[in-house]
Amino acid sequence: MLSATGTTAVAATLTLAMAISLPLWAQSGTSSALAGVVADKSGAVIPNAQVKATEVDTGAARAVESNMDGRFLFSQVNPGTYRIEVWAAGFGPGESQPITVTLGQTAAVNFTLSPAAASQSIEVTAKLPVNAPADETLLSVLRNRLNLTGTKYGCGEGACGACTVLLDGKAVRSCQTLASEAATARITTIEGLEQNGHLSPIQQAFLDEDAFQCGYCTSGMIVRATALLSATPNPTPTEIVARMNGNICRCGTYPRIVAAVQRAAQSRGTA
Ligand code: FES
Ligand code: FES
Repeated sequence: MLSATGTTAVAATLTLAMAISLPLWAQSGTSSALAGVVADKSGAVIPNAQVKATEVDTGAARAVESNMDGRFLFSQVNPGTYRIEVWAAGFGPGESQPITVTLGQTAAVNFTLSPAAASQSIEVTAKLPVNAPADETLLSVLRNRLNLTGTKYGCGEGACGACTVLLDGKAVRSCQTLASEAATARITTIEGLEQNGHLSPIQQAFLDEDAFQCGYCTSGMIVRATALLSATPNPTPTEIVARMNGNICRCGTYPRIVAAVQRAAQSRGTA
């Protein structure tokens, strides 16, 4: 059972310093790159810092390719505009303003992190306490801190529904939900729908109807359908389409998804 509840939320503080000094180890080659250093207020490099760069235009996220004791390097990035996020245990998070990378140049962004004033705590029923910055998204907490990767990162901006989870039984987009908003709620992810080793009727119905191709949207669809059938046990096809409409399937399996939800409704009704 992977539902979660938790308590407390206190904002973290952040001091973000931008600099254009370029580490010597990053001054190489002709391809475009992003590089920088994550340090504390005394200037000491934070060795356990983690870094992510997101291309603003496409929303594509890149994991750091080379993280050398707090110094980071994204090599061979496309020229464009990027936002960089850094975080480290015990420190408030850091995020850059959009930074432009031009062809053949290495853009440098240095961060100075302050100790977290306090942390947010989420306690899951599996007894896994989680400390996360108050402004971290629930999706990030689930995937990156709890390794619950069934919840998918799709658009990251609330448009696709791949990240849908239940908060106190209500379907929400975890990419648009702060961990602080979820701290006192009961969270149910796709992993938490099965009971005692048995798939939920909706999970089984998606299998029975082959209601997926690549499957990337499927966990969000199933979680959304779970909320739908809780509120409306016997929906009409029109109601299913209307209620599932915000979840996008790029493979276009919509007719089979509707059939799966209908099948699940029937099986729940006869169970
Ligand atoms: S990833 Fe959250 S809505 Fe697309
Ligand atoms: S099955 Fe591929 S996005 Fe829906």
